[in-house]
Amino acid sequence: MKYEISKKHGLRGEITVPGDKSISHRSVMFGALANGITEIDNFLRGADCLSTISCFTKMGIHTEVTPTKILVHGNGLHGLKAPNQILDCGNSGTTTRLISGILASQNFSCSMVGDASLKKRPMKRIIRPLAMMGADIRSTLGNDCLPLRINGKQLHGIHYQSPVASAQVKSAILLAGLTADSPTSVTEPYLSRNHTELMLRTFGAEVTSEDTTATIYPAEELYGQKIVVPGDISSAAFFLASALIVPGSEILLKNVGINPTRDGMLTVCREMGGNISYENVKMDGEPSADILVRSSDLHGITIQGDIIPKLIDELPVIAVMACYAKGTTIIKDAAELKVKESNRIRIMVDNLKLMGADVEETDDGMIIRGGRPLHGAVINSANDHRIAMSFSVASLNCEGETTITRKDCVSISYPRFYIDMKSLVNAGQDFGRVY
Ligand code: S3P
Repeated sequence: MKYEISKKHGLRGEITVPGDKSISHRSVMFGALANGITEIDNFLRGADCLSTISCFTKMGIHTEVTPTKILVHGNGLHGLKAPNQILDCGNSGTTTRLISGILASQNFSCSMVGDASLKKRPMKRIIRPLAMMGADIRSTLGNDCLPLRINGKQLHGIHYQSPVASAQVKSAILLAGLTADSPTSVTEPYLSRNHTELMLRTFGAEVTSEDTTATIYPAEELYGQKIVVPGDISSAAFFLASALIVPGSEILLKNVGINPTRDGMLTVCREMGGNISYENVKMDGEPSADILVRSSDLHGITIQGDIIPKLIDELPVIAVMACYAKGTTIIKDAAELKVKESNRIRIMVDNLKLMGADVEETDDGMIIRGGRPLHGAVINSANDHRIAMSFSVASLNCEGETTITRKDCVSISYPRFYIDMKSLVNAGQDFGRVY
């Protein structure tokens, strides 16, 4: 299925973006390992988080889906059952890597698979540290990718110096450390998102954090919780960018998570000259706020170093904003983008060039010379949700129509994306047509 979108002016309105993907995954996983019921409010019902639920269902966890909440009936730290089928992680790296950390210490064996994109993503980054803890985990094709076979064993604590700033790697190790025989710590080159540390503490685990090191102490028990998932800043990013680049726009984004390890998009928008303000700041386990954004004259900046993990998923849409900014934007230290759902450096650069942008691929990012008018094009989404949404944004302020292939991939993280985007377009403007 294709989707065509054309130039807009004056986006207006309020959007409540869906629940945070990272926090939704974790709430089901930790709820499954806890004793008692975990009640999750504003859970993201996107395909990735549904893959997590389906894996735990196969391991004997009962999950009730009500119209407003998800209830996870936890079976305790040692209560998962051997699945009688392969665990299918779909498109979700978070499901695969975090569950691997959990499975490494169970008293059964099982295998994990995923879709065509997930099968290409690197798993050595978790195989190595988990093996150092004594895990029996291997890539069955010997290529350090899925399928993975894990034979659960008693693990021992380690200190791991991670070569990558990755919350998935850190979380896999911390989860394995939950039932290891001694404390486990992970040091990262830069601090990655800390949802695992925050939420495990809420569930009763002892986890400490100092600079870029997180340490977990073996736990006796986790306790079911009430979790309120804030709106996903990575989804809000598409509307932040849209409002900034479409003249005459003003949008209020309600209840967006603003955890400081995730807020790099907001820093970058401000540094580029974006008019953004917070209202109604709240703290409910994780911080959140309503964000008011107005169209602004943007200018190019350099984005590098420790901010990269705080906006890694937002870089595709930041690249779009950079095309509409005056001057040059340089994105560095972002080689991780190559191993996401697609090679996001290559795909962004190729598609932006098709729209007429002056953009250059580098080893660890890209250089964008902004200010050239963009024009419509046929965009290859590579079946990557964040690419499809980024180019929906790009097409809002360019001449001519843009077609996005396999546009339905947005269901991975934001099933209502096109509906919400359409609601911002003023009456009389036709958002797009589906073929
Ligand atoms: C995630 C961590 C990030 C991010 C992904 C979700 C998580 O991946 O890109 O979308 O929930 O821990 P890495 O850990 O690979 O950086």
